[in-house]
Amino acid sequence: MTRSFPPACQAFLSDLNRSLSLSPDHIQHMIRDFHLDMEKGLRGRDSSLNMLPSFVDRPEGDERGRFLALDLGGSHLRVLEVALHGKGKAEALALKTFVIPKREMQETGARLFDFIAACIDRFLSDCLIDRGKIHDLAFAFSFPFHQTGIASGKLLGWTKGFTATGVEGRDVVFLLNEALRRKQISCLRVAALTNDTVGALMAASYSDSTCDMGVILGTGTNACYREKQINIYKLKGRRPKEHMIVNMEWGGFDKARRTSYDMRVDELSVNPGAMYFEKMVSGMYLGEITRLILLDAIRRGLVFQDYPNGPDRLHEKHALKAEDMSLIEQDETAGLDKAGAFLNHRGICSTLFDRFFLRRVCQLVSERSIRLSAGAISAVISWMDPDLAHMHTVAVNGGLFEKYAGYEMRLTKAVSEHCCGQADRIRLVYSRDGSGIGAAITAAVAASINTAEPPSFSP
Ligand code: GLC
Repeated sequence: MTRSFPPACQAFLSDLNRSLSLSPDHIQHMIRDFHLDMEKGLRGRDSSLNMLPSFVDRPEGDERGRFLALDLGGSHLRVLEVALHGKGKAEALALKTFVIPKREMQETGARLFDFIAACIDRFLSDCLIDRGKIHDLAFAFSFPFHQTGIASGKLLGWTKGFTATGVEGRDVVFLLNEALRRKQISCLRVAALTNDTVGALMAASYSDSTCDMGVILGTGTNACYREKQINIYKLKGRRPKEHMIVNMEWGGFDKARRTSYDMRVDELSVNPGAMYFEKMVSGMYLGEITRLILLDAIRRGLVFQDYPNGPDRLHEKHALKAEDMSLIEQDETAGLDKAGAFLNHRGICSTLFDRFFLRRVCQLVSERSIRLSAGAISAVISWMDPDLAHMHTVAVNGGLFEKYAGYEMRLTKAVSEHCCGQADRIRLVYSRDGSGIGAAITAAVAASINTAEPPSFSP
C-alpha cells in the first residue's frame, strides 16, 4: 500500500523503515552484546543486564497445596487463590483484578501498599476466605529486586511508570506486612517473593520439564532462564551440579540501536536514562514511539494536513496505546473504517491516506518490537545451548504477546529464523496466569526444600 503514497511520504516511510528494521547482521551483533552483558552481570560487574539470582530452581511437578497469590505487575493488581494438585496440575480457584490508579503508583509507598492491602481485604471478603486460619501468600512483584531471602527482597528501582516514594532500597515484603498490619489483616504469611518472569517459568515448568525460560511481553518486558549455579560467579556457595533461575532484567539492555524517537520517548518517561530495551519493545512504549513518529510527519506537512501543529490530542503523553495500534493494524476494511472511528472518537478527522500512513507506522514499530524480542530470546537460548542440542520451551506471558494482532505468530516465526533449520527445538507457549500461579509454585518449592535464607551474593 505504501506504493501509492506521494514521494515525500514514501521517502519518510523508507527512512523510517531503514532506521527501525534489523538486518541479520544487526541481530547477530545484538546476540553477541547480549552474551557479553550476561557474562558481566553474572560476574557482578557493571552491566546493562542485572542478572539477579532468584534462589529457586524449577519445580518437580509434584508440589501440592493451596496458596493465595498477589500479582503486582504494570497497570493491574491481581489477587488469586491457587490450588496445586501435583502431577503438574495447577488452577486458579478465584481471581480478582484491580486497576492501579495513577496516584497509587506515583505518590507515597505507604499509599501504594495501603491500596494493595485494601484489595487483599476485598478479595478475602468477596471470596469468603477463612480469616481464622493462616494462609501462605506468594507475592509476584514485577520489578527488579535484590532477593535477600525466599520471602524478602529490596527494590532496586521502579520501572513501568511507578515512582512511589520510600520504596526503592526497601524490603517490599516488609512494606506489605506493615500495610496488612495497618489494615488488621492477620491471616496471611508471605511465603515467597518472585519476579513475574520467574512466575511464568515456574508455572509452565510445573507440567513441562523442557521449559527453561520465562519471558514477559506486556506493559514491560523481561526474561529469566535456568542457569548453572557454577556460572553465577557473584553467588557465594555455588554448587557445581545445581541450577538456579536468573532474572535477567533484560529491559535494561542498552546496546540495541536507538532512533531519535526512542531517545525522545526516554526523555519524556518518568525514568530517563534507564530501561532502553523495554522502551523499544514493551506495550507501555509502543504507542509513544508511534505518536512521536506521527507528530514528526505532521510537522513536516506530510499527513493530517488539517492540523498544521498536529491534533491537540496527539500532544498528550500516552495518547496512543499498544491496544489502539493493534486495532489499527487489524483493520481489514477497504476504508480503514475502524481506524477512522478510533480517531474520530478522539476528535481527530482523518483522510484515508492519513489512516494508511498511520497503519504503516504501527506495523513498522510493532515489527521492530517483535524482531528485538526474537533476537533476545535467541540470545538466551544460544547461551544455554549453543548447538541447540535440546528442546527448549519458552513460557511467555503478557498482553502484547497475548492480545496484539499477530504478535505471537510473528514472534514465533522470527525466533525460528534464527535457528538454522532447528526451529522445532524451540517452542513458545502462553503461560496463562503464570505470575500468580508461578509465585504459588515457588512458595511450594521453598516449603519443600525449607530454605529459610538463601546464600548471599553481591548485586
Ligand atoms: C519491568 C520490570 C521487570 C518485570 C518486567 C515485566 O521490566 O523491571 O522486573 O519483569 O517489567 O513485567
